[in-house]
Amino acid sequence: MLVLGIETSCDETSAAVVENRFKVRSQVILSQLEHSQYGGVVPEIASRLHSKNIHRVIKEALIKANISLKDLEGIAVTHGPGLVGSLVVGLMYAKGLSQSLNIPFIGINHLEGHMFSIFLTYPELRPPILYLLVSGGHTEIIYMKKYFQYRVIGYTVDDAVGECFDKVAKMIGLPYPGGPVIDQMAKEGDENFVNFPVPGHGDFNFSFSGLKTAVLYYLQKQKHDFIEKHIKDILASFQKAAVSALCDRLKKAIEVTKAEKVAIVGGVSNNSYLRKRCAKELKIEVYFPQRIYTTDNAAMIAASGAMRLERGERSPLSLPAKPSLYIEEG
Ligand code: KG4
Ligand code: ZN
Repeated sequence: MLVLGIETSCDETSAAVVENRFKVRSQVILSQLEHSQYGGVVPEIASRLHSKNIHRVIKEALIKANISLKDLEGIAVTHGPGLVGSLVVGLMYAKGLSQSLNIPFIGINHLEGHMFSIFLTYPELRPPILYLLVSGGHTEIIYMKKYFQYRVIGYTVDDAVGECFDKVAKMIGLPYPGGPVIDQMAKEGDENFVNFPVPGHGDFNFSFSGLKTAVLYYLQKQKHDFIEKHIKDILASFQKAAVSALCDRLKKAIEVTKAEKVAIVGGVSNNSYLRKRCAKELKIEVYFPQRIYTTDNAAMIAASGAMRLERGERSPLSLPAKPSLYIEEG
């Protein structure tokens, strides 16, 4: 079964073709670099760029997959959560294409897409899997009991961890997105230089806005020269606190779920310090998707969509874009 995936929930316009669920025939990701000068994603600019580029991104994905439109058997599209103006562009395109080709389409929860990203790299992996989903928009611990059966163990009550990396980078004057830059710079820093509090909210939930404020207050108290001299140490200390919050809660979640496999997905799963800490501290197998499937991509949407379509699921033409969409437990 050949399924086209479409992802436009934030600042990536992406299209992919998967064959038989998890074999990626092609993937195109157009990252909107236009936002970097603003230090974050500007929703209006994002939706305009999606509209401008979606047609050629999809066309390119079909060419790369060496297929034409009539070979497609289904369409999977992110319908939430995300920026409403951006979601609508992908969703409308999917609806139009499904009508004109007379093939079904299915709306996919972006978070479920991230969870399915692991199967693109490890198609033989089977649930139950405990997920740490860490990105610019989300920080969640979710237990996938079976495909499409979830239990949400923990979530963030305020900022997402990736957002926190981005905001700290912005405070220091580093470019957006800040996560990869901090990751690199912190490698040469002393993680014990500043003792930032490890943030959290109860046993399983996350809270990163306090850590962000702690870094801001710390910076405000220091002289410019001192910050310049110790920037790598400050970033390494921040990163240690943020990653400790993730590892601590993940360990508790492993205990309560008795999980035997962990998958860490989403943009922040690229963080080298997080990977190092997990390898050292978690006593069970930890899986990471290939780099191209960590940040927002359409292949992960096509993967979960292909499975849902195989099960006979269909979305109606009335399906709305849902800026706030949660994982349904069951
Ligand atoms: O999954 P993603 O592309 O978008 C959302 O769904 O939000 O994740 C983007 C986020 C950004 O906040 C970026 O700073 C962060 O992932 N990120 C990282 C690293 N690479 C990307 N954060 C920490 N370390 C990294 N190496
Ligand atoms: Zn995402």
